[in-house]
Amino acid sequence: MTTTTNTPSMHPPVPTSDLPPGPRMPVGLQTLRAWRATIPFFDAATRRYGPIFTIRALPWGTAVVVNDPELVKEVFTGDPAVYHAGEGNSILAPIVGSRSVLVLDEDEHLQARRTLLPPFHGEAVQAYGRVVEQIVADEISRWPLLEAFPLHPRFRAVTLEVILRAVIGVSDPRRLAALRQVLPECLQISPTIMAMWAMPVLGRVGPWRRFREKLAEANRLLRAEIRERRRDPGLEKREDVLSRLIAAGGDCDDDELRDQIMTLLVAGHETSSTGLAWTFERLLRHPTTLSRARGGDDAYLDAVVQESLRVRPVLPVVLRQLKVPVNLGGYELPAGITVMPAITLMHENPALFDEPSRFKPERFLDGGEGGTYAWIPFGGGRRRCLGAAFASFEMRVVLRTILRSTELRADVPADEPIRNHHITLVPARGARVVKVGWHALPPWPGRRRLTATARRPRGVGAGAL
Ligand code: HEM
Repeated sequence: MTTTTNTPSMHPPVPTSDLPPGPRMPVGLQTLRAWRATIPFFDAATRRYGPIFTIRALPWGTAVVVNDPELVKEVFTGDPAVYHAGEGNSILAPIVGSRSVLVLDEDEHLQARRTLLPPFHGEAVQAYGRVVEQIVADEISRWPLLEAFPLHPRFRAVTLEVILRAVIGVSDPRRLAALRQVLPECLQISPTIMAMWAMPVLGRVGPWRRFREKLAEANRLLRAEIRERRRDPGLEKREDVLSRLIAAGGDCDDDELRDQIMTLLVAGHETSSTGLAWTFERLLRHPTTLSRARGGDDAYLDAVVQESLRVRPVLPVVLRQLKVPVNLGGYELPAGITVMPAITLMHENPALFDEPSRFKPERFLDGGEGGTYAWIPFGGGRRRCLGAAFASFEMRVVLRTILRSTELRADVPADEPIRNHHITLVPARGARVVKVGWHALPPWPGRRRLTATARRPRGVGAGAL
């Protein structure tokens, strides 16, 4: 027997007979819960319906959420012609462009990914360490002393700068300044802005018009950078990702390079800055872990990063759109629906992680807990985050640089709540801290050592460290 249900108007009705059970609230309410309170919405659904359930929410329509390592493995290792991630990400196409690795599928995707991958390999990313360290050291020196401020916006500035300098390799000060000015607005892709994709007429007015103008300016600047780089006689010696892509001599034209560069900005900026904000939000509330991290080696710092991305994942889900019917978890799922491995649910599953709500980096040392299909902050399979090694390395370098030079305290002992911000999950108060001590590092030879330390300011919670 097959029945149909009311799905959002942009999707055709989907047969429901074989869909897993799920919340029965109206689509509007489910949409609101999915975007505004993802974690409580998913937690309640999995308690009631188990490891596979169906939600109905815009813009996906009918979506089957999975939260079991076997099912997640099936999705991640499934045929890329069946599970389309590019289509799932197509909402970003107006910004990243139609040739972006994020929105392509099957052979076209594989080709784009092969072109982009070499500069993002584990060893290749080590070349960016010096640049990241310089950017962070400069950033820390500007933080106020003994005054509470949110770290998240500061990390947004850091991760934007890292992409501009290490990934794109922009060095002209005027172009750098112009990109710093226009890009942040282009990279805040809110549902309000996305409404313009459905109603292009909006693009003529208000915030939509400003967004379009900024995006056009960003595209102009990025294209100018690409053109100049092609003519650079020192191209072969340059280490940034854009130069390596051009030097590799592939058949990327300027339009495709623009799309991939914009993709790296969209995919790598907000995600890494949020990961860093959570890392400090957690670390500063766990004094023993903090002091171990201060004296810790790279393996321990990596475990801190892994644990932060587990206990506070930046993205709640990954998306795959089904091209043909698939049997998953005993259900015959119809073509056209979205399948969502739920990162948050996997990471808080006590069958996969001991005391899952505890912040305990040690769980990742010596082989550790979890596994490929349990710890999934970067998604998985052939669509696994292309910048995963880059982001992990960047986070470790930022962490090490700050811990070596700066004493930070959380401004209050209470944990910051998790808040939905567009597609990410962020610390609700921006990871507020107080810088209570600092000395400038000599990260490269010959730098003079400056010091400035202070007593703990009033109002900084004793339990915060
Ligand atoms: C903590 C930081 C980051 C997190 C949590 C993160 C997470 C993710 C996730 C969940 C996906 C989707 C994977 C899937 O569908 O299975 C993804 C894809 C992607 N990420 Fe990241 N990411 C981060 C940083 C970065 C950085 C720094 C870059 C590049 C500079 C980057 C570039 C990409 C690209 C290009 C894709 C698309 C891959 C494809 O479709 O083949 N990401 N990321």
